[in-house]
Amino acid sequence: MSICFLNNEFQDIKDAKISPMDRGFLFGDSIYEVIIAFEKKPFQLEAHLERLEKNLSTLGYNLKNFLELKEIILDLISRNSFLNQVIYVQISRGTDEIRDHIPKPNLVPTVFISSHELHTDFSLNSGEKAILKKDFRWRRSQIKATSLLANVMFRDESNQKGVFETILYENGYVTEGAVSNIFCCKNDKVFTPSLEENILPGVTRKVILELLEENSISYEEDKISLDFFSSSDEIWVTNSTKGIIPIVDLDGKEIGSGLPGKIYSKIAKSFKNRISN
Ligand code: PDD
Repeated sequence: MSICFLNNEFQDIKDAKISPMDRGFLFGDSIYEVIIAFEKKPFQLEAHLERLEKNLSTLGYNLKNFLELKEIILDLISRNSFLNQVIYVQISRGTDEIRDHIPKPNLVPTVFISSHELHTDFSLNSGEKAILKKDFRWRRSQIKATSLLANVMFRDESNQKGVFETILYENGYVTEGAVSNIFCCKNDKVFTPSLEENILPGVTRKVILELLEENSISYEEDKISLDFFSSSDEIWVTNSTKGIIPIVDLDGKEIGSGLPGKIYSKIAKSFKNRISN
């Protein structure tokens, strides 16, 4: 059984129901977070809540009980039996009476929080494939919105092609993955796209930058051209549920030696330590 939290109560997910007039359903007018709990301890919960709070404020949602969310998430983790969990938090602007693009000012947000088992153990990965695609998402992907049709199409394509991730580019520069942030390395230096309006400020990205500092590895946040990226020594993609994954084949072309690189191995080990402690 999986217990979720919906509209102020914990319940079996099989019994959970929301109205079709919910603006999350009608317009994708909702935001979300994906947080992992490793051995029942949430990882980077404060950073996820900070990003969520920022998105709530950008969109002007009236969530009165934001401060209770932390306790609710901790309670949900303990009510579910899995040791390692993926916690999904979705907040929509609320439920309308008639469908109207213009939001009413005082809607009560719908809060849905669920948990399922996390299957990643964050051990070293032997290398994955990725493809490159033109980024056709909306331009404000720094907002973690549930309107993810473009991402669904990119993920569907990578799945059909048997590759791990689709990496996106716009005007000759890489942006991020369909469900991840991206990094590359050249001559022992690490590069990641600087945070623009169309790039999600990933929590894992932030942790990786901290680990690079701790390990005295120099890095730069900047625009990264497709040519520079495709000819790097190492490429990694990062997100909360997978951690840090080395890409050794991009559009059928070998990256570096075709095996995970040495900076990856170092940072992936530090990352696993961070999660387990
Ligand atoms: N997505 N960029 C995009 C487009 C993402 O969807 C994600 C993660 C990230 C990485 O963010 P973080 O490190 O905070 O998980 C970057 C989650 C996992 C998802 O949609 O399921």
